[in-house]
Amino acid sequence: MIFRRMVKLAHISDPHLPMTTAKVTQLLCKRILGYQSWHLNRKHVHDPAVLAGLVEDMQTFQPDHIAVTGDLTNIGLPAEFAAAGRWLASLGPADRVAVIPGNHDAYVKIAHEEGPGRWQQNMKGEYAVPEQAAKDGFPYVRVRKNVAMIALSSSVPSAWFAAGGRVSKRQLGALKTLLPRLRQQGFFRTVLIHHPPLPGQATWRKALWNAGDLRDILVAEGAELVLHGHNHRHMHEPLKTAHGTTHVFGVPSASARETRHKPAAAWNLYQIRRDEGAWRCDVKIRGMSSNAVQFAELRHVAVTFD
Ligand SMILES: [Fe+2]
Repeated sequence: MIFRRMVKLAHISDPHLPMTTAKVTQLLCKRILGYQSWHLNRKHVHDPAVLAGLVEDMQTFQPDHIAVTGDLTNIGLPAEFAAAGRWLASLGPADRVAVIPGNHDAYVKIAHEEGPGRWQQNMKGEYAVPEQAAKDGFPYVRVRKNVAMIALSSSVPSAWFAAGGRVSKRQLGALKTLLPRLRQQGFFRTVLIHHPPLPGQATWRKALWNAGDLRDILVAEGAELVLHGHNHRHMHEPLKTAHGTTHVFGVPSASARETRHKPAAAWNLYQIRRDEGAWRCDVKIRGMSSNAVQFAELRHVAVTFD
């Protein structure tokens, strides 16, 4: 029997954990809108029971690594960051659970140690990154067997009605260096980012505002997967690059009940292996199949990278 190493990578996003209590003084800013929106509407969509069911389903597959692509919080309160840190710890050891922030995790400016700094153990890698990246903390690069995950942050505080993002020039410069280096070293390259990474994948208000710059780097240097959240929808877009095809996947919110406009919670499992000199990846798309919080396989896609 030929032993083929396979890596099982689970991708979940936008869990939007339950709102914590807030002091009035913490709401005297953009947060007041998000706070109202949560209590009027979003708390009826993002259900902790759904999230628990999704996590249970995911854990039965015993993934080698879990990627959480942002929006763990709703209005970026210190107590929300602390609760999200506890939830991350419940998923598994920090070196098996990578997280990046989303736009809701940068709702307003917050001291690093009270905000994303709470997730520091889940936001570091073991692969050396260019000097400019080390300063910002992103990208960090995780390695699991022959799979490298390059974690970008597109999370920036924005105007009252905006939910877009931007990847800094420093991160883009580091990505441009890392992608060819990792390819030459034989890694399967998976880029993690909260916002959909290609132009036109979100309306301007919600878009990655420099998606064209990121797309140009992907086209020039290639990557095997890009995993994102933010749109709360199933998405899959192949992108032709100078080094084959990059598959860009997005998943719905991990805690959502189905609404008129958005699907119920789902997550993806990527089973990655090297087969006769080529990368293979089987993608299981698993989602909530009944309101009684049962999960089942919705689709299965086998992607190639030629
Ligand atoms: Fe988002």
